[in-house]
Amino acid sequence: MTGFVLWFTGLSGAGKTTIANNVEPELERRGLVVDHLDGDIVRTHLSKGLGFSKEDRDTNIARIGWVASRLARAGAVVIVSAISPYEELRRHARSLVEQHAPFVEIFVDTSLEECARRDPKGLYARAFAGEIEDFTGVSAPYEEPLDPELRLETAGRTPSESAAAVIERLEQLNLLPGRVESEA
Ligand code: ADX
Repeated sequence: MTGFVLWFTGLSGAGKTTIANNVEPELERRGLVVDHLDGDIVRTHLSKGLGFSKEDRDTNIARIGWVASRLARAGAVVIVSAISPYEELRRHARSLVEQHAPFVEIFVDTSLEECARRDPKGLYARAFAGEIEDFTGVSAPYEEPLDPELRLETAGRTPSESAAAVIERLEQLNLLPGRVESEA
């Protein structure tokens, strides 16, 4: 059985990692083998040393796409959460994955204003002060997905409500087995 790739894209602070962390246990409850490639974590291992120029981001996303395609081919469900700001590289990742398995792109659509208001890592304040260059949404582009499998507006929704919307979409796409009920 092949897996699939669930690819979360959106601005820093949009909620990608948090929503992914809410989706992951529900997939495991369904008996799926799940791995999560999160941008911040990948950058401490597979992409250690890469920065945030377009070239380095493209390398980062190409690596994540390649690894995700291999894992999905071997049967895993791979959750990716990375800004992945460039449409061309998201398309490249999709084409690698789709040689073996379905690719489900989730656009975590949180406005720049809201991400900057939340500023969970304090990075927007520094970026607006000119202390961080090439910061996505401030001094580097974010190209919105034009045709994602799901566009998730997070305003007014809790992370667990957003995660439920992702699960519902996966069910519509026939990618999920039923819940494995534990025996009493
Ligand atoms: S991506 O563009 O290559 O997909 P990735 O998701 O791996 O980015 O890493 C983004 C994370 O790196 C952000 O959530 C933030 O914590 C951190 N970061 C540090 N510098 C930048 C920057 N210039 N632009 C965006 N994110 C940055």
